[in-house]
Amino acid sequence: MSLKILLFGKGGQVGWELQRSLAPLGELVALDHDSSEHCGDFANLAGIAQTVLELRPDVIVNAAAHTAVDKAESEPELARTLNALAPGALAQAATSVGALMVHYSTDYVFDGSGSAPWREGDATGPLSVYGRTKLEGEQLIQAHCARHLIFRTSWVYAARGGNFAKTMLRLARERESLSVIDDQFGAPTGAELLADVTAHAIRTVLQGRADLAGLYHLSASGATSWHGYAQLVLQTALDAGVPLAATPQRVQAVPTTAYPTPARRPLNSRLDCSRLQAAFGLHLPSWQQGVVRMLRETL
Ligand SMILES: NC(=O)c1ccc[n+]([C@@H]2O[C@H](COP(=O)([O-])OP(=O)(O)OC[C@H]3O[C@@H](n4cnc5c(N)ncnc54)[C@H](OP(=O)(O)O)[C@@H]3O)[C@@H](O)[C@H]2O)c1
Repeated sequence: MSLKILLFGKGGQVGWELQRSLAPLGELVALDHDSSEHCGDFANLAGIAQTVLELRPDVIVNAAAHTAVDKAESEPELARTLNALAPGALAQAATSVGALMVHYSTDYVFDGSGSAPWREGDATGPLSVYGRTKLEGEQLIQAHCARHLIFRTSWVYAARGGNFAKTMLRLARERESLSVIDDQFGAPTGAELLADVTAHAIRTVLQGRADLAGLYHLSASGATSWHGYAQLVLQTALDAGVPLAATPQRVQAVPTTAYPTPARRPLNSRLDCSRLQAAFGLHLPSWQQGVVRMLRETL
């Protein structure tokens, strides 16, 4: 069985890794917002639906989104178009061609209360425009395309492009101490892991397990704060012989209130991924494993 897979957002953190992990599954058409042959611009709802109708893929994977969380507060209509209306339009088009729709959502659909890892059925309560529009995107997909996989993830990083770890390393070279938030908790999750799990889940669903379609939490195992994350990054760099002005012990712990931002962020971003692991027979590695690996590749 040869599959045709249509990927949107090919140049993003997750989209880039999906180009690798989806390639062995079949013929892959990968688009971004300025692709010329087919419309991949999420601001053009009719255009992306037309792309689906023309290409008639077996699977649509959407890695495009408005991910600038603070900027979304001042451009809520654009954020809603990219995060909700465009995925909704793709879901309708997916149904009309019989495709499986794969999409990513976020821990920001929750209000961040408590300390227990969030389960798929827990009440949502987004604190930001980004969170609200991502939640509406989930709902539109669920309403328009029963054959879907939606993965809610958290704190995504990739070797390619900028990320939190690289920012911490730069600052630790320049300064003798850093201040990093220690009251937001989550699991840093590699784009590689998301892409690999996505490919596995697509194969499983298409090889006779259509009953596994649905919403899943997907992050690396364990949890930390941004402060703990920064300390691991600096320690890994020191172990690799990178000279730093700020050591892990010189990372000061500060509360979220020390860094006011336009968008409110959840304090508890922990995701319970047991549903995904049981359904697809997967083991999710620790967040430390992925971060150290990414650093060893990029240092
Ligand atoms: N990053 C995180 O920490 C995080 C956490 C939880 C969930 N997620 C979710 O995971 C998914 C992937 O995120 P990511 O980290 O890979 O994001 P990313 O690196 O910011 O990539 C987003 C992609 O969307 C594209 N895009 C922006 N505007 C577009 C438009 N008008 N039309 C078509 N494409 C457009 C971007 O293209 P250009 O760069 O060319 O504009 C980019 O390729 C998203 O659904 C996101 O909400 C991310």
